Amino acid sequence: MDAEQLRQYLEFYQDLGIKTLYRQAAPAIATAATAAIPMELPPLAPTGDTILKIVEDIGDCQRCRLSKGRNKIVFGVGNPESPLVFVGEGPGADEDAQGIPFVGRAGQLLTQMIEGTAKKEGIEILRKDIYICNVVKCRPPENRNPEPDEMEICGQFLHRQLSVIRPKVICALGGVAARALTGHKEGVTKMRGKWFKWQEIPVMVTYHPSYLLRPYNQEAKREAWEDLKKVLHYVYD
Ligand code: URA
Repeated sequence: MDAEQLRQYLEFYQDLGIKTLYRQAAPAIATAATAAIPMELPPLAPTGDTILKIVEDIGDCQRCRLSKGRNKIVFGVGNPESPLVFVGEGPGADEDAQGIPFVGRAGQLLTQMIEGTAKKEGIEILRKDIYICNVVKCRPPENRNPEPDEMEICGQFLHRQLSVIRPKVICALGGVAARALTGHKEGVTKMRGKWFKWQEIPVMVTYHPSYLLRPYNQEAKREAWEDLKKVLHYVYD
């Protein structure tokens, strides 16, 4: 790999919010003279990329440990020409069973929030009109947060999805998605309601719907509705 290729890779990772690269262990025979240790890097987005090509490239993905416990890869759902994309963290049990993002309780709340807010604001959109996906496409065990290396490996597909769709706005649901997309390190409470950027595309951060399901989070629910209103007006006015 020459310096120019390496620069392109590093920029690509930076766009994914990745700050740490994991180098494979050096082969036993490596010496100072053989310092160029081969690294297996995910491919950069190919030119003329399409959603179909990304699905094909994911295939029956075994690139990280999350593949071991998954039932279905949860790629994304909705209109790939949508000006608005929601990005969550990773599939839960219902999503893993159905292969569709945000279909469990949190998903139902998300649908209700999108459709209810749009209707109230006089914007004619339904969930099917927008696009929804996650940072990682396979369910983390026990619904734990995805690990940095899992996000790094799977992030290439999110990067390609967003590059193909190039929406007007991305809405990051929860801290994991917010940090992955923006590269900022703060918690979601600090970031929510604010605009950030992913590759020049405005990113609004809001709470994850599963956080809003907790009964004591009524104030957060109100704030999330405010965030969503901002997003919908920005996109559809
Ligand atoms: N939580 C997420 O982050 N994504 C889903 O698809 C479902 C729950």
